[in-house]
Amino acid sequence: METDGGAAVESTTYDRLTEEDRSLLDAARSAIATAYAPYSGVRVGAALLTEEGPVAAANVENGAYGSTICAERMAVGRANARGLRSYPVVAVAADGDRLETGRPVTPCGACRQVLHEMARASDTETRVIMGTPGSDTVTIATLAELLPLPFDPLG
Ligand code: THU
Repeated sequence: METDGGAAVESTTYDRLTEEDRSLLDAARSAIATAYAPYSGVRVGAALLTEEGPVAAANVENGAYGSTICAERMAVGRANARGLRSYPVVAVAADGDRLETGRPVTPCGACRQVLHEMARASDTETRVIMGTPGSDTVTIATLAELLPLPFDPLG
């Protein structure tokens, strides 16, 4: 365990993951190939573990930059379209020349909030597995660690 920005996170390596975690991270890595990221060049893949197996997607950018949709939220949209809202594990990976190497790919604030809503709606605790571009280091944290005090209007 180490401390990173106030969150207690676990740092491990790809080969030390369980088979289930490894295959979810593999699904996130594979989804990178479908990224549409001509503006930033940052290609992100996300995979959600669902009761029907992994549901993965990549980021889709837009020339109106604010209309870009992150990989995590694309994956939530895909899963929700199949009636799936419980994601006990989420994996995120990325590549791109402008990504800082040695730093895990962490979900952005908006994606944390969206994942929190689904976790709350399905009464699920979510673990987030984050790959590191160009490295086999893997960082694992709970969503609650990544998003303390979430906005929760439903109470
Ligand atoms: N991006 C994601 O797909 N997920 C995140 O959690 C952070 C950012 C994408 C959005 C944009 O296409 C690119 O990364 C650069 O910000």
